[in-house]
Amino acid sequence: MKERRRFICQQCGAIAPKWMGRCPECNSWNSIVEEAVLPEKKLEGPYRNPQLLQEIEYSEDERILTSIAELDRVLGGGIVPGSLVLIGGDPGIGKSTLMLQICGNLSRERNVLYISGEESEKQIKLRADRLGIRDGNLYIMAENNMNSIEVAIKELRPQVAIIDSIQTVYYPELSSGPGSVSQVRESTVKSLSLSKETDTAIFIVGHVTKEGSLAGPKLLEHMVDAVLYFEGERYHSYRLLRSVKNRFGSTNEIGIFEMRDKGLEEVSSPSKYLLSGKLKDTAGSAVVCILEGTRPLLVEVQALVSRSGFNIPRRQTSGVDYNRAALLIAVVEKKLGYMLGQEDIYINVAGGIKVEEPGADLAVVAAIASSFKNRPVSEDTVIIGEVGLAGEVRAVSHVEKRIQEASKLGFAKAVIPYENAVDISGSAKIKLQGVKNIGEAVEAIIE
Ligand code: TYD
Ligand code: MG
Repeated sequence: MKERRRFICQQCGAIAPKWMGRCPECNSWNSIVEEAVLPEKKLEGPYRNPQLLQEIEYSEDERILTSIAELDRVLGGGIVPGSLVLIGGDPGIGKSTLMLQICGNLSRERNVLYISGEESEKQIKLRADRLGIRDGNLYIMAENNMNSIEVAIKELRPQVAIIDSIQTVYYPELSSGPGSVSQVRESTVKSLSLSKETDTAIFIVGHVTKEGSLAGPKLLEHMVDAVLYFEGERYHSYRLLRSVKNRFGSTNEIGIFEMRDKGLEEVSSPSKYLLSGKLKDTAGSAVVCILEGTRPLLVEVQALVSRSGFNIPRRQTSGVDYNRAALLIAVVEKKLGYMLGQEDIYINVAGGIKVEEPGADLAVVAAIASSFKNRPVSEDTVIIGEVGLAGEVRAVSHVEKRIQEASKLGFAKAVIPYENAVDISGSAKIKLQGVKNIGEAVEAIIE
């Protein structure tokens, strides 16, 4: 039989009819390569028969708990048997460490297989020693060949298996190298069918590339049951585990860990942790309570407004969306009458947290105003609210939950949207000040 070949874009995975200089799907240049197609295997029995829904047995108790509460919560209540989970993140962030720790915990009661295409068995042993993993049913396999991995999983039938990483495993039958779109795709497809066939929960580790995507953007995400991202900054010790897709739970749940010398440790009171470095009585700092999934989280928004040495002043943000910040700066100029046209403005969210919800708008405004006026926001005040283009402060969701968290951490006052304040005025334990627009808010906060 003649070998089948095809042309595939290494960026987006599109298949082209012939070689082209530019991918017609994603428009990237020189990304199309020719490669062999994995021969299709004929379907051999036994294949599955359709089952009646009411005859399928399943209960939530089947979830496998890892004893790492932060992880179990992000997964939606533990690992679902037979599920395929992708865990992505920058190289060096701690993915292998987390995976090995899960294996260590689970291996006390279950068969677990850790497959590494990156490290030798001895290196893994060394790391396991450091993490305090000694006995238990933890099998280690240093292997890159997907064919051998398939055999190992089918023979050993572990309840949980880790493939670390998807970019290092490959099918020798394919002409492209490990990490290429086709290798990554074929290996993921195989992992998916393996997980369902053997009822093994499989975690595949994926490195995020320079461009910020897992090899072949979006390519893997739709195939797997859950996608977790492990984030953080290399020079900070804490790490965030975020779920961006979960067929068995809610998304946007985050777990917080700290990288110690004996591995990752859970951070049980993240708000306290995130505010621990905050300076007292400093202008340009405001605390907001955001919601990450179901959990309220107190974070510090910082702004630095300083006279620019350039014709075009600099605007820089980290942790908040650049365009959102630009919009808020414009609202501040227009509605508060601050002359910011000659000022450099830097905005930062402490702790490497990324704030996506509009509920943090008012805190950004407060931080800018505080820095511009050089007057600190009172330390015991938390600020919550969405800001509209007319400078109005709009209501946010779950305000009670947020206030509760603030009160738990010792905040005495909350500046919140007027509507929210009316709603919950009876129940709050701390002093509430409802504001209708940013003018009122700034007055309440720094004047
Ligand atoms: P690793 O899990 O290898 O990252 P990834 O698999 O995402 O590439 O983590 C590597 C980093 O973690 C490395 O810089 C060392 C650090 N580390 C600790 O600080 N403490 C530890 O106990 C371990 C095992 C690693
Ligand atoms: Mg690794």
